[in-house]
Amino acid sequence: MKSGIGYAAMMLALAGLLSATPSQTAAAGDPVVAARQASMKEMAAAAKAIAEMFDGKRAYEPAAFKAAANALSARTGPALITEFPAGTLGAPSSAKPEIDQKRPEFEALARHIGALAGALAAKAGNAPAAIGDDMRMGAGLPMDGGSLLGKRPNAAEANPATMPAEHLLHLILQDCSSCHSKFRQRQE
Ligand code: HEC
Repeated sequence: MKSGIGYAAMMLALAGLLSATPSQTAAAGDPVVAARQASMKEMAAAAKAIAEMFDGKRAYEPAAFKAAANALSARTGPALITEFPAGTLGAPSSAKPEIDQKRPEFEALARHIGALAGALAAKAGNAPAAIGDDMRMGAGLPMDGGSLLGKRPNAAEANPATMPAEHLLHLILQDCSSCHSKFRQRQE
């Protein structure tokens, strides 16, 4: 069953990562804001590269997979948290001021995606020459994405180290979307 648009591509679209929005010129003056926006763009490029390799839209290269997974891992977790200090939130940045009031929630999201990206990077470190079946979404999981977009009980409890790489990517993309929907506002 091949649909026109892959699940990962759909998640990227949901996360607003496929649309080329102009960057925030108004925030260019704050180096902290500029640096984290650049870092976010690097993450988007890395996630897109991996998604396209799994979707067959880009040639799979173990080295490129590893580099992209490492880029995600390096920019999530504690690194992501330190990119959002108080005093750099709110307009003209797209970071919502609520980040400061909801630090535990924001940091939990950053750590959650960091753990997933770390697991992905560990797998990518031993990436085989070709994408193997064991790297693909498990047979027990729906491939149409339908129920993946809804509540997925036990997902948080599952051990990332035992998940296929493609599944990790999808969970990572969900975290991008979760954080953006809560803590990012579009500056028009
Ligand atoms: C814990 C929260 C959080 C997570 C997780 C997160 N982001 Fe973001 N992201 C933000 C916030 C907040 C902004 C707005 C930053 C600003 O404008 O100062 C942002 C902005 C962006 C931007 C726009 C950058 C620009 O040039 O203005 C892109 C692209 C992006 N994120 C991609 C991603 C991708 C891809 C992922 C997942 C791999 C991800 N983000 C995960 C919080 C998050």
